[in-house]
Amino acid sequence: MNAISLASPLTLPCGVTVKNRFGKAPLTEGLSDGWNRATERHVSLYGRWAAGGSGIVVTGNVQVDRRYLERPGNVVIDGPQDAEQMARLKAYAEAGTANDTVLLMQLNHPGRQTPRRVCEAPVAPSAVKLALPESAFAPPRAMTAEEVDDVIARFTHASKVAQDAGFTGVQVHSAHGYLLSQFLTPLVNQRTDQWGGSLENRARLLLTICRSIREACGPSYVISVKLNSSDFQQGGFDSDDSLQVVQWLEQAGIDHLEISGGNYEEPSMMGSKTSEGRSVAESTVKREAYFLDYAEKIRGVTKLPLMVTGGFRSRAGMEEALASGALDMIGLGRPMCVDTDAPNKLLAGAETVGTWEKEIKPPKAGMGWFALNLIRHGDGLDPDTAMTGEEAIKAYVANEEATAQMLEGR
Ligand SMILES: Cc1cc2nc3c(=O)[nH]c(=O)nc-3n(C[C@H](O)[C@H](O)[C@H](O)COP(=O)(O)O)c2cc1C
Repeated sequence: MNAISLASPLTLPCGVTVKNRFGKAPLTEGLSDGWNRATERHVSLYGRWAAGGSGIVVTGNVQVDRRYLERPGNVVIDGPQDAEQMARLKAYAEAGTANDTVLLMQLNHPGRQTPRRVCEAPVAPSAVKLALPESAFAPPRAMTAEEVDDVIARFTHASKVAQDAGFTGVQVHSAHGYLLSQFLTPLVNQRTDQWGGSLENRARLLLTICRSIREACGPSYVISVKLNSSDFQQGGFDSDDSLQVVQWLEQAGIDHLEISGGNYEEPSMMGSKTSEGRSVAESTVKREAYFLDYAEKIRGVTKLPLMVTGGFRSRAGMEEALASGALDMIGLGRPMCVDTDAPNKLLAGAETVGTWEKEIKPPKAGMGWFALNLIRHGDGLDPDTAMTGEEAIKAYVANEEATAQMLEGR
């Protein structure tokens, strides 16, 4: 038997074959127009990613409800799509599926992590506010039972629209503290109905959504879920809970699982913690990925194709992780913001990707730096690695304000 390499294909349970072991992780783009529709800028950006060699490309989060955006420039699919909206989504799908790329649309509802800039009255499983400044996030109110049912219908509808537009599948976002991740944690979900209490009840919304998408989109549509290995918060969704939810997801018939961790209050997806809760800086991690320890545990309980995202930068680290059998796919986020062809480079023998991250001044540049480079790709420009973190954050804030005003002005 040949050893599994980064170039090995992988067939998912639904029958779709992924051409190699790279997955471009979801990266919010902020490139929609004033009506939250897809644009030519998505076509430009996704054309580059498709050409760049990743077997799977997951889109940035697309919202299922325009009242609750993750940021002003999100694409939204909520309700019947007119001919213009469909034409735009089809152009987006055509660009992103070129070069035999499996294109998954990430669907999301941000719940209490909806910024005040776009919403003064967010919703959550229970009225538990974020431990972050209220100037940025208004306190949420608890959702009614009807609203929970409506969320199921919205995820299902958006999945069907994505299928009709030509996307290979969807990814349900249940990580990083957004609504479905809020339902999973007893810290935010204090409901006493069928959606709260036991882990089984807290996971019911995610599992119902996955089954409903399967029912609507048929057996050969790819359904992926992005799940936290842990929220890393005392009394919150932890790795034992996560291991149980993974088994239920397998029973619900999903095809692909992306593992990450953390949320806005505890942003471990960006590298503050490993899956055992140790700080990445403190631990002598020979293995560069943050959530590998957890991936090994998952292997014991499921055969689901597993993609681990967070920290991968060297080809040796990726090959070692793959050879260990702990995972099936390597998720790449920040490296893909600059090098849209990072997978091709690695397959051609490059030792590392994302080395420019060390050059960014100040060293911890934050999201703005990466987000602005995505926008540059959308505009058909080359990435700008000389941009400083300070320049990036100023330009990012200005971009978000301008986009928010575009929404208000329509
Ligand atoms: C600019 C930017 C946008 C992101 N947007 C999303 C998103 O829309 N959905 C999501 O699940 N994760 C999102 N993430 C998190 C990444 O998918 C990934 O989990 C994280 O960057 C860690 O992987 P990395 O070390 O390879 O960058 C985003 C990250 C960055 C830097």
